[in-house]
Amino acid sequence: MANVAIDLLGMHFRNPVIPAAGPNVGTAEHLRRAAEGGAGGLLAKTICVRPAQVPRPNMYRYGTTGMLNAELWSELPPEDWLEREYPAALAAARRHGLPLIASIGYTPDELRRLGPRVEAAGVDAIEFSVHYLDPSQLLDTARALRESVSVPIIAKFSPHAGDLGELARAIEPHVDAFCCINSFGPVLSIDVERIEPVLGSELGYGWISGSPLKPLALRSVFEVARATARPVIGVGGITSGRDVIEFFMAGASLVGVCTAAILRGPGVYGRIAQEAGRWLDHHGYRDISEVQGLYVRKFGRGRQVVTEKVRSARVLAERCNGCTACETVCHYDAIRAPRREVAQIAEDRCTQCGLCLWVCPPGALTW
Ligand SMILES: Cc1cc2nc3c(=O)[nH]c(=O)nc-3n(C[C@H](O)[C@H](O)[C@H](O)COP(=O)(O)O)c2cc1C
Repeated sequence: MANVAIDLLGMHFRNPVIPAAGPNVGTAEHLRRAAEGGAGGLLAKTICVRPAQVPRPNMYRYGTTGMLNAELWSELPPEDWLEREYPAALAAARRHGLPLIASIGYTPDELRRLGPRVEAAGVDAIEFSVHYLDPSQLLDTARALRESVSVPIIAKFSPHAGDLGELARAIEPHVDAFCCINSFGPVLSIDVERIEPVLGSELGYGWISGSPLKPLALRSVFEVARATARPVIGVGGITSGRDVIEFFMAGASLVGVCTAAILRGPGVYGRIAQEAGRWLDHHGYRDISEVQGLYVRKFGRGRQVVTEKVRSARVLAERCNGCTACETVCHYDAIRAPRREVAQIAEDRCTQCGLCLWVCPPGALTW
C-alpha cells in the first residue's frame, strides 16, 4: 500500500488520521482505544485551569452524520489530567509508537499557568483552542503559550473567529502549526413535540459538527494553507478516506476526526486511514505527500471565472437507467426524461448549471 505515514513537527504519525478533541478522547482510556482503533497519533480532550460545568443533555445527532453539542472542555480538573490521565495516555501512546498532543484553553493567563505543567507531563506538542476567545486576544494568547513552553504549539481555529487566513498570518511567528476547524455556531435545534431545545444550554444553543461542517472546514484549511507556510491539521466532517485526500489537496498535512468517532466508535480512525491508502493505490500515488497541497498549487491564486456557457450536459445512453432524477432538478426545462427511457437534453436550453451531473445515480450525465 502507498505510504501514509507522516513526519510533522518532529513527531511521527503512522497514518494521517488522529482524533480531534471531544468525548472520543475524554480520558486516557478513550485515548488507548483510539490507539487500538488505528489512529495515526493521539490528541487529548481540551483541559482548562478549572473543570467545565456542562449543560445536560449536551449531544444530539443531527441527520445521520452530523451533531450538535454543548460540551465545552473537560469536566475533569487539570490535576486529574496531570497526575493520572496524561501519564496513562502517554504509556498507551508509547506502546503503539504514537505521539500524544495535549489540548488546552483559553486566555493568555490560563495558558501561561497550564502550559508548563502540561509540557512537564511529557506530551509531544500542545494545541490551544481559541473557541471562547475574542479574536482580538489571539495574538496575546499565542505569545503567552510560546513564551511558556518549548514543545511545538498548534493554534486551533474556530470558524466564527473571522478571516482565518488573516489571523493565521498575524500569529504565524508564534505558533508551529494550525488546526482548522472547531465546530460552528452557535446553532439551534428544537424538539417540536416537546417545544424544547434538543440541548440543555441556556437558550438551547450548541455547536454543529460532522458532515454538515465539511465544506466550511475544507475552505478554512485552504484559506490558512494559502496564507501561511505552516502546516495545517484539517478537521471537520471527515468520515472517509476520500475526505482525507480532499483535505490534503486543500493544504492539510494531517487530519482530525471527532464526530465520526463519537457516532461510529474508535475503529473509524484506522478504517479511514486504510481507505485513504487504498485511494492512493488506486490512483497510482506511492506516498500521501504527493497529493498534499495539489489544489492549493492549482487554485491558490484563484482563476479566470467563465460566465458564458461553453458546453452542455450530455447523456451517456448506455448508462442512463431512465430514473428521471435529472429532469426533476433541471429548472431550465432542458431535460426530458420519461420513466425507463433514455434522457434527452435540449442543448439550446441547457445553461451549464451542473446540477444534473451530481444527482444522476448511475453517473450517466457528463459534459
Ligand atoms: C461533543 C464534542 C465535543 C468537543 N469538544 C472539543 C474540545 O474540548 N476542544 C476542541 O478544541 N474541540 C472540541 N470539539 C470540536 C472537535 O474537535 C472538531 O473540531 C469539530 O467537531 C469538527 O470535527 P468533526 O466534524 O470531525 O467532529 C468537540 C466536538 C464535539 C462534537
